Amino acid sequence: MDDETGQTPAGGGDPLAEIEALRTDFEGEAEGVRDAAGLDDLRARYLGRKRGRLTAVFNGMRDLPPESRGAVGRAANEARQAISSRLAEIEAGLRDSGATEADALDVTLPGRSDEVGSLHPITLALEEILDVFTRMGYKVVGGPEVEHDFYNFGALNMPRDHPARDIQDTLYLGGDWLLRTHTSPVQIRTMQQQEPPLAIIVPGRVYRRDTPDATHTPSFVQCEGLLVDRDITMADLRGTLDHFAKALFGPQTETRLRPGYFPFTEPSAEMDADAGNGWIEMLGCGMVHPAVFEAVGYDPQEWQGFAFGMGVDRIAALRYGIDDIRMFYENDARFLRQFAV
Ligand code: DAH
Repeated sequence: MDDETGQTPAGGGDPLAEIEALRTDFEGEAEGVRDAAGLDDLRARYLGRKRGRLTAVFNGMRDLPPESRGAVGRAANEARQAISSRLAEIEAGLRDSGATEADALDVTLPGRSDEVGSLHPITLALEEILDVFTRMGYKVVGGPEVEHDFYNFGALNMPRDHPARDIQDTLYLGGDWLLRTHTSPVQIRTMQQQEPPLAIIVPGRVYRRDTPDATHTPSFVQCEGLLVDRDITMADLRGTLDHFAKALFGPQTETRLRPGYFPFTEPSAEMDADAGNGWIEMLGCGMVHPAVFEAVGYDPQEWQGFAFGMGVDRIAALRYGIDDIRMFYENDARFLRQFAV
């Protein structure tokens, strides 16, 4: 008799019946184990050296008549094996669910780090462009994306019946309102508010009714420049834009002007740049048309100016060697991560 355990001693009755009973009890109790403490308690109550019910059966064997020891021993060993493997199974289950004490919190695991973002390539290109011009004294200004016909077209020497309006597929909002097709209306807004001389650089989003392809998107970012002063000539435009191209693409870069057409400049030109891989069109430019000065109340006899406009997507594509500008708008993290600085 093992009074200390409070268990029914194996010697008191039929040990084979006790083995069967304890196996049934064990199975029932095993279902109720929820944590490591419960598991330890269960193990102690069946296999523990002092309290174990199965241990008591083993201990009682020496009091059995020799001829029944074999059968009891076999049954007890089978029970020990079944109980041990069931205990191991419960332990594994608890570990998987993180419920055992040792596994609940592994302070040696590396933490989950936040991803560090990066500036978008268009933003990076725009910052470079603005940098070059602000160093030359240009002021950065902005304007509205919802624009009036007068600023987007009329004052830029494109009256209502002007064929040049067709060049820019406009998204009209109703009445005289539209989504600006270029950043040029900010030239007008600025000149209306300021007296010459002035030099501004205008980054901004523009909209066109375009079907997306490798070189077109319905919305993109432009950057516009305007300089107005006395005695400004095409040589000033050329020198300024040549400096800009060299600052952006390297000192070996060459530039050339080709004749172009914009209603708000006369003469108009397109500038190409060659940074060593052939000529690539970079921007549109020209001398401010007298009609534009008249629309804002500047005297074209006294003031001259030049203007230019570029697609920042295009500049970024050239700068970073990207051949499909849709990449800029798909926000694929694998693409964007390459521009992390
Ligand atoms: N606004 C023109 C466009 O969207 C770009 C441009 C060309 C702007 C010549 C200018 C300029 O200021 O002088 O295509």
